[in-house]
Amino acid sequence: MYIASCVTTYPKNLRMKSKTALQLVQPSAQFELSYRKYIEELGNEERYPFPMDFPHEDFPALLTKLRNFELGIDLPEGFIASSTYWLVEGNELVGVSNLRHELTPSLRHAGGHIGLGIRPSCRGKGLGKLLLAQTLIKAREKGITDVHIHCYKGNGPSAGMIIANGGTLHSELVDGKDTVLRYIVLA
Ligand SMILES: CC(C)(COP(=O)(O)OP(=O)(O)OC[C@H]1O[C@@H](n2cnc3c(N)ncnc32)[C@H](O)[C@@H]1OP(=O)(O)O)[C@@H](O)C(=O)NCCC(=O)NCCS
Repeated sequence: MYIASCVTTYPKNLRMKSKTALQLVQPSAQFELSYRKYIEELGNEERYPFPMDFPHEDFPALLTKLRNFELGIDLPEGFIASSTYWLVEGNELVGVSNLRHELTPSLRHAGGHIGLGIRPSCRGKGLGKLLLAQTLIKAREKGITDVHIHCYKGNGPSAGMIIANGGTLHSELVDGKDTVLRYIVLA
């Protein structure tokens, strides 16, 4: 299988400003090939954030759909506007985040503002922390100051990433056989 040649030499506590090769960008056609390989790399793993489940065979249609979600156009019932960001290194897509512009009562209960994922071959190198930090800046720019971020209790890397970004545990809730940790980060 193709594996992205990402950031293997980067130090653990990397920062965006010192790693100019890493950029947070809007989805664009430039990364189509890398996007397809990323999906391949995920295999049967559950995909985060939710727009990673959108069909991507027609790539221009995917880009339009992501843009429409950002603008609040043609949203499915019960969905609210959200922005998708891509963390890239050169032509390689290494992570994806999604920021909901507001919370419904259901999302406030479980789901939260931000979902994100790092390409499997790029995990454990600090990129999740970096992507969340950059997405929190976007939240602040949109006037969201109390950012709700939720993860399953068994997801150590996710909880670690949230705590490293200043998350404080608000509460836990039992969702079926899983426990959801509900964090709040002041952006
Ligand atoms: C969760 C995810 C985004 C984290 O990204 P990452 O690049 O792997 O994580 P980072 O390297 O930035 O590490 C984040 C923190 O978690 C810690 N961590 C890593 N693995 C851990 C584990 N198994 N248990 C506890 N903490 C762990 C790291 O040490 C780091 O904290 P520190 O800097 O204080 O030491 C990534 O693992 C991923 O995409 N997972 C699959 C999708 C997913 O679960 N998304 C989140 C849904 S809520």
